[in-house]
Amino acid sequence: METTPPPVLITGGSGRLGQELRGLLPNLLAPTRQELDVTNPHSVRSAVERARPALIVHAAAYTDVAGAERDREACWRVNVEGTRHVAAAAAAIGARLIYISTDYVFSGEQGHYRETDVPGPPVNSYALTKLVAEEAARQAKQVLIVRTSFRPREFQHPVAFEDVYTSQDYVDVIAPMIAEVIRHADQIPDEVLHVATERKSVYDLARRRKPDVRPGRRAEAKVLLPADVSLNTERWQALRGTWGESA
Ligand SMILES: NC(=O)c1ccc[n+]([C@@H]2O[C@H](COP(=O)([O-])OP(=O)(O)OC[C@H]3O[C@@H](n4cnc5c(N)ncnc54)[C@H](OP(=O)(O)O)[C@@H]3O)[C@@H](O)[C@H]2O)c1
Repeated sequence: METTPPPVLITGGSGRLGQELRGLLPNLLAPTRQELDVTNPHSVRSAVERARPALIVHAAAYTDVAGAERDREACWRVNVEGTRHVAAAAAAIGARLIYISTDYVFSGEQGHYRETDVPGPPVNSYALTKLVAEEAARQAKQVLIVRTSFRPREFQHPVAFEDVYTSQDYVDVIAPMIAEVIRHADQIPDEVLHVATERKSVYDLARRRKPDVRPGRRAEAKVLLPADVSLNTERWQALRGTWGESA
């Protein structure tokens, strides 16, 4: 007799990454913000207790990096307090938590960051909340922090920075990699995993989907951006070699 696998719940299922993941993993339970508001511990607890997932993918966040400088409180409430509530709910039912974090937890002075490198100091408010939220996520007891970075499917700006280095990619490239991590979560013993593509400048990435994008410099940005937050992904590459899936 076939047994139904235990459910996987995602927060932020209406977001850029969440929508892609739902397309790739159609059985994901994806409550709306009305059904699961991360800023409200009762809402989180009751949604999680109703669904009783074995795994919670926490992708809900305040992601407007410039907006976070203007409204630091709103960003803190969603990213830090929200993650604290999700981690507590996961711990209460014994679910493992996959926390979707970012390359921005690093200062960007070094690049090629490994999971064992100490993150920080963050260069902007959004980055600070994501770093503190990583610590909040650890309260789940069983946690996997996935540091990644992605852009919408199209490059949306007329200018791209030549002096900002990243291993981010477009969301339709990164989401299948995260979906694979979710599928193989029970084979990942680590607490932190970097999931990304090769190091390149944002300008080089932009040109792949917007050939007429103009080169710009980091100093032109409205908010301070880290110079090189590229991630070393050897740990993830070694793991996925054992999963028997193609890239
Ligand atoms: N985009 C990037 O460049 C990037 C890079 C690295 C890491 N990340 C991380 O990846 C994750 C997903 O990012 P994304 O770009 O896909 O996000 P996004 O498109 O900005 O979507 C944010 C999601 O969070 C939900 N949300 C916001 N406040 C909420 C609340 N109080 N309660 C419940 N849900 C709430 C939103 O719901 P509504 O639809 O109801 O607003 C939406 O589903 C985030 O953790 C982000 O920090 C993003």
